[in-house]
Amino acid sequence: MPWRRPRTHVDRAREIRRSEEEALEEKAEHAAEDEAVELAAIDGASIVEAATGEPEDDHAPSDLAAKLGAAVEGVELPALSEHRAPPRRVRAAPPSEAAVPVVAGPEPHPEDGIDLEVEVARGLRLRNPVLTASGTFGQGVEYAELIDVSRLGAMVNKGTTLHARPGNPQYRIAETPSGILNSIGLENPGAAAVAKRYAREWPALGLPVIVNVAGHTVADYVGVVLEMEGTPGVVAYELNVSCPNVKGGTLFGCDPALAAEVTRAVKAETDKPVIVKLTPSAPDVVAVARACEEAGADALTAINTVPGMRIDVARRRPVLGTGSGGLSGPAIRPIAVHITYQVAQAVAIPIVGAGGVTCAEDALEFLMAGASAVQVGSATFADPLAPIRIVEGLAAYVRANGLASIRDIVGAAQRGRKRDAGTEYVE
Ligand SMILES: Cc1cc2nc3c(=O)[nH]c(=O)nc-3n(C[C@H](O)[C@H](O)[C@H](O)COP(=O)(O)O)c2cc1C
Repeated sequence: MPWRRPRTHVDRAREIRRSEEEALEEKAEHAAEDEAVELAAIDGASIVEAATGEPEDDHAPSDLAAKLGAAVEGVELPALSEHRAPPRRVRAAPPSEAAVPVVAGPEPHPEDGIDLEVEVARGLRLRNPVLTASGTFGQGVEYAELIDVSRLGAMVNKGTTLHARPGNPQYRIAETPSGILNSIGLENPGAAAVAKRYAREWPALGLPVIVNVAGHTVADYVGVVLEMEGTPGVVAYELNVSCPNVKGGTLFGCDPALAAEVTRAVKAETDKPVIVKLTPSAPDVVAVARACEEAGADALTAINTVPGMRIDVARRRPVLGTGSGGLSGPAIRPIAVHITYQVAQAVAIPIVGAGGVTCAEDALEFLMAGASAVQVGSATFADPLAPIRIVEGLAAYVRANGLASIRDIVGAAQRGRKRDAGTEYVE
């Protein structure tokens, strides 16, 4: 994030209420403990089941439990696929039967049979257009305990840098009307550690992973991609160009030439699709989008957070430890839809819309503006089920409108526009 400012003295009251985001980060830090819990629950119970003593719907039993159940029932199990098996309903056995879980078929979902497939980047088709946004979904494994992540299109992981970063000083999150300000500061353990740790866990999610790459030099971006290459589960890279360049401090994403340079360098090192995440701070975001497309970008994400600040009037200083932060949530949706619409007119590569998506109608705004897919970010803090509800809502829209596919509405608002009605406005 571009707002890191060294502080000599941090004199802040201890934060009393942890934000959802911090709770998730803490959860990631304690993942080793979580793993121990999972090992303890080797009989197939989830953490929820272990805590409540009741069977939990939609929780896949462990491989061992499934094998035990199948062995007792004399059922032959299919070979374990690379991805996590679809959730199976585990019912408590009636008292007369042996105390072995009965494994039923996969749960039907409202989106079953509806064509939601989209091309989110050149060479990358996903089962549906609902992705989770970088920095708001941890590394995916944290949310997999809460929701069936395999029903989503893909996830974008937490911003990954070449070397570990501790993140910014507190406070790093502040609420605002219809949004949140954050200055997390790309806290992450570094690319090599991420690749090592999640090589085993990501494939088990059944959810394609897009790695969000950040750095301060072109070599940093390339270094992250080289470290992550070959990591199972990774299908593409998203370049967070909202980072200041060491040579002069301009954000990579504010300068078409710099954005093109980093895109070209990364493209030279990987065969996987490269998505460039546009910043609304760019003086001419359309020029940046065009430059990235010319440099070989396979898609664009529109947009990253919008710079913002809150002042603590009692203390007479900014609320965030870094002063400024990035604004996200519904407050920025009209900005993000506007940029999506403008960029869609300028490039031929797919666009992934991001900024304030909370429900299917919000997602439809982006799709009709010209995005092929959307990312859901801040909304998952308030409701972890938001991305799933959006998948269901898009399926309902396709069905209710008799569409052959969700692709039919991509860019619909562009087509519906009167030829002479530009997007310029006068206040
Ligand atoms: C707490 C937080 C952390 C974020 N971290 C990153 C990050 O590491 N890399 C990145 O490219 N974007 C990051 N973002 C930006 C989001 O991915 C997304 O572009 C933005 O929040 C707009 O979407 P939303 O309004 O749905 O949250 C972060 C956003 C939030 C709220």
